[in-house]
Amino acid sequence: MTRTLIRGGRVIDATGERMADVAVEGGRVVDVGAGLGGDEVLDAGGCVVAPGLVDLHAHLREPGGEQAETIASGTAAAAAGGYTAVVAMPNTEPAADSRSVVDFVTARAIAAGRCEVLPSGCITVGRRGHELAPFAELAAAGVRLFTDDGSGVQDPLLMRRALEYAAGLDIVLAQHCQVDRLTEGAVMHEGECCSRLGVPGWPALAEELMLHRDLELVRLTGTPMHFLHLSTAGSVELVRAAKADGLPVTAEVTPHHLSLTDELLASFDGNYKVNPPLRTMADVEALRVGLADGTIDAIATDHAPHSPETKEQPLDVAPPGMLGLETALGVALAHLDMPLARVLAALSWKPATIAGVSDRHGGPIEPGGAANLVVFDPDERWEVAPARLASLSRNTPYRGVKLRGRVRHTLFDGRPTFRDGAVAT
Ligand code: DOR
Repeated sequence: MTRTLIRGGRVIDATGERMADVAVEGGRVVDVGAGLGGDEVLDAGGCVVAPGLVDLHAHLREPGGEQAETIASGTAAAAAGGYTAVVAMPNTEPAADSRSVVDFVTARAIAAGRCEVLPSGCITVGRRGHELAPFAELAAAGVRLFTDDGSGVQDPLLMRRALEYAAGLDIVLAQHCQVDRLTEGAVMHEGECCSRLGVPGWPALAEELMLHRDLELVRLTGTPMHFLHLSTAGSVELVRAAKADGLPVTAEVTPHHLSLTDELLASFDGNYKVNPPLRTMADVEALRVGLADGTIDAIATDHAPHSPETKEQPLDVAPPGMLGLETALGVALAHLDMPLARVLAALSWKPATIAGVSDRHGGPIEPGGAANLVVFDPDERWEVAPARLASLSRNTPYRGVKLRGRVRHTLFDGRPTFRDGAVAT
């Protein structure tokens, strides 16, 4: 068996940090200490060695959207971004509301072998919002996170029944908070900028109203719930109050909502169109505070590949979404004034707990632990060049932008999936 040595890095995990070599064999960490040897050496000089990143929110598009991304290309992008596990969103074609779709996604991911893919399941059949999906059948196929992401569950009674049904199963319901009636025809955040541009607005209230409703449903049913891609200062306040009341809720924020604002839409560039939309600087600042004080648990990418043909359409018809897997760490380190270990908590061990995979991702780097690891230079500045991304799509809003923190190696199950800055073949 090959013994791989990660040499000369600064090891950071939930237990603290130390300078150490890390030896890996047979998918496990076998030794952590000074002056270790190995058959294959990965240089970690000047780098941090941390548990692999875990993404709660990635659109891998397969089945049905293979022109934009496949499970093979999406997991290559994940490896390039330092991820060892990603939750695959269910808004595929067909949607992930049956065991056959879930089994297909799992089989494709195992064949690609670049990271663990955790298929999510729909809350409602076909994500149409009328009847509940078969949670028990999907849970038996390994689904833990259920969501209609891309849309929110509009019907409050159906959402209540979903929470009651979920209570008996070891699963998590995750809501995309959007009251559709309030966002009909909307293109960007409703505010001063959209008025100036004369473009229909997506009000903060459309998110906050559903979030408020669901927090009250959690209070009623006692069932835990996760909230996807929160984007407004009001949402941070609602979750903060809910947690203070002891409600069992968790929340995520995307790298783009932590770094970009609605002003960018003045370019009419479809790469800035996303759902929920980019908000104001006051929202960005509230999200950063919410992440720093633990109101928001995780950074999740909402990696949403779209082909150039669709993104180059006029702003009102271009689909919402932006790439995220390969830039998340660099955006987080460039924009967050938080200790490195706290940033890693939000990118790795906290999402691992929410996804229910902390037995194999995000855990302490110690002998016996699973060898799902990322090695990155926290200070390296690099410019995003879309043509060099591993994703099949190019819809990044960070084209030509300088980020901070670059992945050097990613190891999944003990094998390098990204090595010396390149996807391993
Ligand atoms: O911007 C987004 N794109 N938000 C979503 O909720 C869905 C996603 C997509 O599937 O493209």
